[in-house]
Amino acid sequence: MEKLIKALQEKYDAQNQPIETYLSGLLHAKPINYWDYIQVDTLLSLQRPRTDFPDEMIFVIYHQLTELLLKLIKHELTQITDQEVDQKFFAEKIRRANRYTEICTNSFDVMGGGMEPEQYLKFRDTLTPASGFQSVQFREIEIITSPLHNLLSHRYKEELADSDDIDELMQHMYWQEAGTNRKTGEKSVLLSVFEKKYLAHLTDMAEVYWSKSVYQKALRLKESGEMTDELVKELREHDQLFNVGWPKVHLRTAEVYLEHGQEVKAATGGSEWKRYLHPKYQRRIFFPFLLTEEEFKNWGED
Ligand code: HEM
Repeated sequence: MEKLIKALQEKYDAQNQPIETYLSGLLHAKPINYWDYIQVDTLLSLQRPRTDFPDEMIFVIYHQLTELLLKLIKHELTQITDQEVDQKFFAEKIRRANRYTEICTNSFDVMGGGMEPEQYLKFRDTLTPASGFQSVQFREIEIITSPLHNLLSHRYKEELADSDDIDELMQHMYWQEAGTNRKTGEKSVLLSVFEKKYLAHLTDMAEVYWSKSVYQKALRLKESGEMTDELVKELREHDQLFNVGWPKVHLRTAEVYLEHGQEVKAATGGSEWKRYLHPKYQRRIFFPFLLTEEEFKNWGED
């Protein structure tokens, strides 16, 4: 006890603060409880379906669960990018990010098999033109992880290979393919409202992570011949899980609902979804330097 008081005294002395006031505050503070700490009431007030179809609640909550897991992935990745780290720490953080991505992938059945297609096909109409496409955390993770050049649309990969103009690169991301009319260059509502809200923010992030993305840190280790097998394994796994595994279960789920019945339905966001969502079309690869030529060539193939 004495040791503890002494440590507290030192802590507040260093801040030029009176320890007595803090101890008195401690005496009167209410004890913490689970519901305040976890913010249960707030959390449970955030589900607001737009229809009376019971399955819409599943849809809302599962998207929210995914957003929380994406937040955890970001939380692990930024601990790698924002400080000096050793390889053990590096590999452990990627392992954790992989665990969260696996949860997203393995639980996707909550969507794929967990809602009545008849209900989904009705409540989805009220969501047009919104789409999970507009999840900004998904794009943030990409930018924290890999340079913009690896996230370019396949149409611009060669042309912009040497560009270091961030604004120009940001105009040609692979995800813009989901909402750009190739003939007129016109952008869909899905894409234009997303860009209006987030493009400036994502561009700022791209500047911040330009030379400190997970890719940059890993490449430096690889080039100096120091990279451990453990780290290579986790990074390769990350690429597979995030850029092939999850996109494939997501695409299969879209097929369950949007191909239910007679005709293939349009996406709420209006993309040519069947082609766009396939990982072999997007060719989003975070760490190409860790792949064999064969793996690179066949990326995302079934
Ligand atoms: C029944 C379930 C779902 C269906 C039918 C579905 C369908 C689609 C479709 C068709 C797109 C293409 C964009 C568009 O035109 O709308 C898309 C994109 C996307 N969705 Fe979903 N989705 C479902 C669930 C989810 C869930 C649970 C998440 C988790 C947050 C999610 C996240 C995304 C993301 C991140 C994209 C963009 C993917 C990319 O750019 O590669 N989706 N979704």
